[in-house]
Amino acid sequence: MTQQQLIADTDPHRLARTISGFNLIGGELTPARSGRTFPVVNPANGREIGQAAHSDAGDVEQAVAAAARAQPAWAAMAARKRGTLVAECARLLAGHVEELGRLVALETGKALRTESRVEASVVADALQFYGGLGSELKGETVPFDPGMLTFTQREPIGVVGVIIPWNAPMMLMALKIAPALVAGNTVVVKSAEEAPLAVLRVCQILNQKLPPGVLNIVSGDGPVCGAPLVAHPQVGKVTFTGSVETGRIVARTAGEKLIPVTLELGGKSPMIVMDDADLPRAVTGAVSGMRFTRQGQSCTAASRILVHEKVHDAFVAQLKARVDAMKMGDPLDEATDIGTIISRAQLDKVLGYIESGRAEAGATAHECAQLPSGDALREGLFVRPVIFTGLGNGSRLAREEIFGPVTCVIRFSSYEEAIAMANDSDYGLAATIWTRDLKTALDATRRLHAGFVQVNQNIVVQPGLSYGGVKQSGLGREASLEAMLDHFTHKKTVLLNMS
Ligand code: NAI
Ligand code: MG
Repeated sequence: MTQQQLIADTDPHRLARTISGFNLIGGELTPARSGRTFPVVNPANGREIGQAAHSDAGDVEQAVAAAARAQPAWAAMAARKRGTLVAECARLLAGHVEELGRLVALETGKALRTESRVEASVVADALQFYGGLGSELKGETVPFDPGMLTFTQREPIGVVGVIIPWNAPMMLMALKIAPALVAGNTVVVKSAEEAPLAVLRVCQILNQKLPPGVLNIVSGDGPVCGAPLVAHPQVGKVTFTGSVETGRIVARTAGEKLIPVTLELGGKSPMIVMDDADLPRAVTGAVSGMRFTRQGQSCTAASRILVHEKVHDAFVAQLKARVDAMKMGDPLDEATDIGTIISRAQLDKVLGYIESGRAEAGATAHECAQLPSGDALREGLFVRPVIFTGLGNGSRLAREEIFGPVTCVIRFSSYEEAIAMANDSDYGLAATIWTRDLKTALDATRRLHAGFVQVNQNIVVQPGLSYGGVKQSGLGREASLEAMLDHFTHKKTVLLNMS
């Protein structure tokens, strides 16, 4: 509200420099109090594109204080009015899709056409969806006693801490901040070290509409900046997406404080292909489900593809041909399907898994597509997609989240065996089954241990559909009306004695 109308800047290098080195606290772009920053690197060429504020507990303190100051007035606003403001934010963002797509492509290495621009438009969609739900923050009347008027009402929790990863930073942030804000909470976001700029820009755009302090964002290191946010006594709820390991740390601190947490953690999502499946369609589903266009860096990635032995070889041949046809290259090039891995550390992790898979007896690593050529991308963190065959469900590669362009195709001979393997995992985020048989499909939807189950398709999280995991994949649900009601409000019961 305090700023001039921001003009979209589709030169991501210039934009990255413009917003370098800042947090956004109380409606103002402000550097870390220490003045320290850390570099943000383009993973396609290893070059620095800008700097991010290196925030610590002191900066978190300022941000939480700003959010706490803004919260009572925000909560006192009519719920529909808050929703209207959030929907207006969505309309503002619609004018920045190209800019945000380019900026997130530059800092994450995700291809603009297949991933980054799509992510930017989903952000606006998520805000639009929640913007319409203000009037759904309803309570109930309870027929407790004829002499008492008994009812419930939904109240905001207060200040919500939002911790996000780098793989789809804007989208994952939007799915958290939109319901939190519409429900009457104020927010402090802690961005991921690897991707702090596009989300900062989103918050800057939204701050043109939102009152100062309602939405704040700080960048910094997990333990130095994320941990104090979770631990802060005025933060009444934390919603986190990231690794299981960090999710546990967050949950432990929240447990000490006895505050609610939502955790979206990893996955090892099975895709069961029966022998009666429409094979070309299943192959298309494997390509999109495995998120090859995002280098497999997705918690939902279909990274265990269980295929009936009768169609196994045909499936693998078709899948390999499809992935071979994908073009790896400069993320900002419209022709590119597949960009880069986010960071050197993730690259090393992914390559380690590929090496370990190759060393297993009976395993074959089918490398797909071609690395880009040319000097400009020589330092780029490119990894050719790999389809493993010949591994069992007990393999490390089938049990652990790789978060790279690596999938395991595992053979089965009976439906029962497939279900048993699908469920034999520490994770339970998503699952799909591909079959033309209705009875098999329905049976599988009942028996698969996962929070999100699809038959003959593999679409991504959508506003309106509850999304989240069972087992080690997390706690709570996101993206839906229920997610807002259950995870961003307290329910108060009120009894009015009229006798
Ligand atoms: P991470 O879980 O460590 O990082 C996610 C966020 O948590 C970042 O903003 C980070 O700064 C923050 N964080 C780290 N330590 C923290 C702490 N002690 N307290 C509060 N916040 C903290 O994930 P990372 O290191 O980026 O990736 C490691 C692995 O995690 C990946 O290889 C992948 O397997 C998994 N992952 C899963 C994601 C998902 O969508 N479920 C997203 C990103 C990573
Ligand atoms: Mg980490």
